[in-house]
Amino acid sequence: MLKEINSRDWNQVFSNELQIESARAMENGRIVLFPQLAFVLFPHENKFLSSDYTPIRTKNISFNYLTNGLHGIRCSTKECDELKTMMCRFMQSAHSLLLKLFPFYAPALQIGRTSFRPVEIAGRTSSYRKDDTRLHVDAFPATPNQGRRILRVFSNVNPNGQNRFWRVGEPFVNVAERFLPDIRRPWMGKATLLKMLKLTKSYRTEYDHMMLQLHNRMKADVDYQKNVSQQEIHFTPNSTWIVQTDHVSHAAMAGQHVLEQTFYLPVHAMMNPELSPLRVLEKLSGRMLV
Ligand code: SIN
Ligand code: FE
Repeated sequence: MLKEINSRDWNQVFSNELQIESARAMENGRIVLFPQLAFVLFPHENKFLSSDYTPIRTKNISFNYLTNGLHGIRCSTKECDELKTMMCRFMQSAHSLLLKLFPFYAPALQIGRTSFRPVEIAGRTSSYRKDDTRLHVDAFPATPNQGRRILRVFSNVNPNGQNRFWRVGEPFVNVAERFLPDIRRPWMGKATLLKMLKLTKSYRTEYDHMMLQLHNRMKADVDYQKNVSQQEIHFTPNSTWIVQTDHVSHAAMAGQHVLEQTFYLPVHAMMNPELSPLRVLEKLSGRMLV
């Protein structure tokens, strides 16, 4: 499940063989883990790891580098600026790592949101659809991806020695084969209406519809959660991992204080587009989905 790389440097140069090997592993659904790649906070940033900086009503504090917008937290202008600077530095570090490890993705790679997750996962309550302690593939109701891949870089910045504990489930093909037969097509005009009402940020393609249905049905199925083949992974503090969360069935069970950077990658930029959820779902359903 893991492809481990022993680098401690966000700007490390990797050999061509390692680049190809890592991309192949990741595109096949493995997690690329850097057990010793730490995102180090400056002394004045350590205060953000205290309960004084708990997000309001959400589980994340999110940062959009394009608009310089910070969401999910109320703080003084100075503190907000410090938080933005820290999150922006994480975005740049994660971006540099991806460009060095996967230079062939560079022309197509798009940078998404940065998120800081200071809330302990275990014991957090939410509706089942928002409950990330249930195995799922990522798909979001308001943000259609239209086939683009979701690539995420996580860093455990926990200061108290606490691991981030995940479960990882069966391969995407198995998830799709299991749940797809029960998924109906969206009703005519639904995607247009959702967009008109601004309930989605862009057009919800049939691909997005299917991914959202997979996400919801996996989470809703209590037997599946318990009985599907799965393994536990414990990400230690000061480790970093890269994972395609639209492809890897995952559940975050416990842990506090992680930074996460989202990237998007068009399917055509992959080494092997056939492995993408889009192509897998198209093959299984026998039609184009975007
Ligand atoms: C998730 O993507 O489901 C949550 C991952 C995490 O916060 O560790
Ligand atoms: Fe997720």
